[in-house]
Amino acid sequence: MAQPSLNIGMVGHVDHGKTTLVRALSGVWTDTHSEEIKRGISIRLGYADTVFRKCPVCPEPQCYTVEKKCVHCGAKTDEIKTVSFVDAPGHETLMATMLSGAAIMDGAMLVIAANETCPQPQTKEHLMALNVIGIKNIVIVQNKIDLVPKERVLESYQEIKEFVKGTVAEGAPIIPISAQQKINIDALIQALDTYIPLPEHKLEKEAQMLIARSFDINHPGFTYEEIKGGVIGGTLTQGSFKEGDDVEIRPGLKITSDGVTRWEPIFTKITEIHAGKSKVKKAVPGGLLALGTQLDPSLTKGDSLTGQVVGIPGTLPPTRDGFLMKLDLLQRVVGVTNESEINEIKTSEPLMLNIGTATTVGVVTSARKDLAEVKLKRPVCVETGAHVAISRRIDSRWRLIGVGIIED
Ligand code: GTP
Repeated sequence: MAQPSLNIGMVGHVDHGKTTLVRALSGVWTDTHSEEIKRGISIRLGYADTVFRKCPVCPEPQCYTVEKKCVHCGAKTDEIKTVSFVDAPGHETLMATMLSGAAIMDGAMLVIAANETCPQPQTKEHLMALNVIGIKNIVIVQNKIDLVPKERVLESYQEIKEFVKGTVAEGAPIIPISAQQKINIDALIQALDTYIPLPEHKLEKEAQMLIARSFDINHPGFTYEEIKGGVIGGTLTQGSFKEGDDVEIRPGLKITSDGVTRWEPIFTKITEIHAGKSKVKKAVPGGLLALGTQLDPSLTKGDSLTGQVVGIPGTLPPTRDGFLMKLDLLQRVVGVTNESEINEIKTSEPLMLNIGTATTVGVVTSARKDLAEVKLKRPVCVETGAHVAISRRIDSRWRLIGVGIIED
């Protein structure tokens, strides 16, 4: 399998079928953590890779498949592209995870179940998040058509059309499918191939990778010789990495001494690179990568490096513990049953900020009409001009209220 060339996000309301669809498209079940299986919802961003293929003999859309042999005529199918799926959780308490996932999506499938009226709260909130983060390549998946009569499928189609009017998804195709019964998956692959094009790769720029997950892959009882260094997973947004590269991770490690806290960059070496299901010598942007490193695995355990950035030493953006941002707030709070108006941001209020794959809380130190200055609880490594998804605590939940652009 080649290195995946792009990341496709799965977004939508809880239980509308995102994980089932990833399985139908890739044969991988992304809910692999036992706790996730117990709770039945995708807690962390799951990911899976697949190869889109095309039968050289059959007509469209039947020719589109993920199988190596055409199910219609038995011909050997040709590879079109390898993609990674980023499965974001649909539960409303997990918006922060959804937002950090959105940072690494090149396009998204908005999954909407036909057996419920549209929009459901997180259908709306996730579409708003795609809007805010600027993800324009969207395919709408109308799922669970096996559960309802044809009349309801048509009615749900009209609801979806009405709902996306005036949003980033207005012109997006709507593909009716059943993820569970694998109906119309070929037409969906065709739409994904057409509407989510390959992103521009910016290979000439300095490497920058956003960390989405980090792991300790060792098992209890491993001997000293068997122990492997910490593993980090994420996406290169620009540039390339090769095996043996020395890298820097920022903001790095939190160090507290004499009551003072500071963050120090971590330096290590890339020992191996996994892309898709294969080990590669060099990686470029597109798809999710896992980097083996020489780090003490305790540093990468349990996603502890999620939200940090990896690059060649000395080339990363600054680590900031605060910044000024230009605000563009939404009119109303979405994702709740009673949608209220969004009031202006006030001095000393806490905001949840999603920047790249990082989630941090920023306390507003000064606020004017369309500008706010924040002091961060946890620093971030980010360029001027980057987008910040802003959420506010409303009725004990973080709700997306707008976008900021870092000025300083
Ligand atoms: P979260 O990750 O928790 O947000 O949910 P999800 O959107 O990933 O939903 P999931 O794939 O876990 O599906 C929820 C339930 O719907 C499961 O019981 C699936 O078996 C069922 N389901 C998903 N797709 C279909 C479909 O096309 N038809 C039918 N009948 N059931 C489906």
